[in-house]
Amino acid sequence: TSTKILAFAGSARRDSFNKKLVKIATEGARGAGAEVTYLDFRDLPLPLYDEDLEEAEGLPANARKLKELMKAHQGFLIACPEYNSSITPLLKNAIDWASRPEPGEPSLVCFKEKVAVLMSASPGGLGGLRGLVHVRSILGNIGVLVLPDQKAIGNAHQAFDENGNLKDESQQATILQLGNKLVTMTAKLSSSIEMSWS
Ligand code: FNR
Repeated sequence: TSTKILAFAGSARRDSFNKKLVKIATEGARGAGAEVTYLDFRDLPLPLYDEDLEEAEGLPANARKLKELMKAHQGFLIACPEYNSSITPLLKNAIDWASRPEPGEPSLVCFKEKVAVLMSASPGGLGGLRGLVHVRSILGNIGVLVLPDQKAIGNAHQAFDENGNLKDESQQATILQLGNKLVTMTAKLSSSIEMSWS
């Protein structure tokens, strides 16, 4: 069976630069033989995490949907904007909901033994690089193996062509390669986990 990758941006914005990056990297991942599911958080609105709400009503339907999606995939392809030098509230909120166990579920089941690759785009010169430091730290602390390879694309207003591809060939190649690398590394980790179980 092929490697299953869930691809999403940490922005719901319709013209999101980070969504464009996800689409390019998805091409790279599919080229490496993966089955990629694209998740647009605009289609999966989540309330702001509130422990009282969870206690009163359990997980919202969309949080359950998110968890099912994450559980069904072995790797995460993530492009996240930088907001005030950090992760976006949208992505942090999604992670927080997905981290909540339901009765009988092992802890952090959406995250443990998963592999992620990170990228970002920003109109600024650093391309959102400082935000990725935080995304990496958060995911690493909940059991995700975050690949050391990453890419931040600066000057995003000028960087993409009308088809959503990067004008700079080497940048385009790097993002495609990140998608590809995620698949090879996810496949390796998954097969070694299966070996350790058998
Ligand atoms: C930003 N932006 C931004 N950019 C950056 O490079 N460093 C930063 O610290 C911030 N901070 C920040 C805070 C807030 C609240 C907003 C709304 C924006 C700009 C951001 O990179 C820009 O809006 C991107 O276009 C967002 O990514 P998407 O939606 O295009 O994927």
